[in-house]
Amino acid sequence: MDQLAQNSETATAGAHSTWIGSAGAAGTDLRSDTMTTPTASMLAAIQTCTLLDDVFNEDPTTQDLERHCAALTGKQAGLFVLSGTMGNQLALRSLLTQPPHSVLCDHRSHIVKYEAGGVSALTGAHVQTVVPANGVHLTLADIQAAAHLDSDVHTCPTRVISLENTLNGLIMPLAEVKRIAAFAREHGIRLHLDGARLWEVVAAGGGSLSDFAAHFDTVSLCFSKGLGAPIGSVLVGDAGIIKHARWVRKSIGGGLRQSGVVTAAARVAVDETFGTGSTGVGGKLRNTHVLAKDIAEIWTDLGGKLVYPVQTNMLWVDLDDAGCSFERINKLGRQEGLKLFGNRMIVHYQIYENRDFVVPRLERIFKAIMQEKAAAAGSEHQGDKGQTSVYRAQ
Ligand SMILES: Cc1ncc(COP(=O)(O)O)c(C=O)c1O
Repeated sequence: MDQLAQNSETATAGAHSTWIGSAGAAGTDLRSDTMTTPTASMLAAIQTCTLLDDVFNEDPTTQDLERHCAALTGKQAGLFVLSGTMGNQLALRSLLTQPPHSVLCDHRSHIVKYEAGGVSALTGAHVQTVVPANGVHLTLADIQAAAHLDSDVHTCPTRVISLENTLNGLIMPLAEVKRIAAFAREHGIRLHLDGARLWEVVAAGGGSLSDFAAHFDTVSLCFSKGLGAPIGSVLVGDAGIIKHARWVRKSIGGGLRQSGVVTAAARVAVDETFGTGSTGVGGKLRNTHVLAKDIAEIWTDLGGKLVYPVQTNMLWVDLDDAGCSFERINKLGRQEGLKLFGNRMIVHYQIYENRDFVVPRLERIFKAIMQEKAAAAGSEHQGDKGQTSVYRAQ
């Protein structure tokens, strides 16, 4: 049976409860790496996990995952949290004390754009955003120009710098992280890393998990994005910070009881998708980067432009230049049996596993867009301008 027919049959049969990996819905969904679905080996791990209470700090499966992530990142302790948002928010709440205080970050950061204003609600901090001069990642020069270091009563002092790596699939190189960290330390500023996709930086050869984590007070890493676990993230840091974060986690209802059912799957995601050790030996991410570049090349060979260079598994096609609306590409995707999300495509590992199905269809979509562009040459399409709520490249 044709895979597309199989997918739609599965959908109509309501069989999204099956553990079929890339043969299921995720194999045709490029909207996000969060669409990856848990695998049969995760189910097997869930079936043999421990079932003790994690609020009482008694669950071995959960403790083992926390210790493992701490070891991978070279930190003293880890804390399993329900989401990347929760990891970031607990970190910032634990690093900050009291106002006046501000958090400095890239203007495209998840903490400022997509966490429902949590930083100001939970910490009272002013969030100061910075536009990277190079258009890709913040540099020390950007941060030096923006940080508030003096004690003048008019200023809101910078107490935390929060970096994100990858950000929109783009890598902040280790050398830049080191420079920023040295500056932060010199001025008594704490440093958090939203490392939801730090795994991808490592897979791209940018350095190991511990190379990066060494420069931060806290790092959050997600299991439920490119690694494919159903739920969860981890926050790592020194023992004192993590103890405090555990306390804050409880206060916002994030204390878990039999958490082994989710942490068992997360451990499989780390071992099988990221790979072993701090560099992810034998992992599945590297292939997705190669495929993302191949897909980008299909687009650019047809005359398409990219919003950003492809550095990991994220691809940003310039639809404004192509005269194509988000709605149009999404519709072309639906017609081909693919789920698309405007100008951003994420080539996660279940797309890689299903590449023989996906790539020819993407090629047809790209060709249709370029044919429509040629047909409309000289017309006045302006693209989708203005603020949108989710995942729009800036
Ligand atoms: C960079 C980054 N950080 C944090 C998050 C938040 O993760 P969650 O959706 O699990 O809260 C996301 C979600 O996509 C993200 O892309």
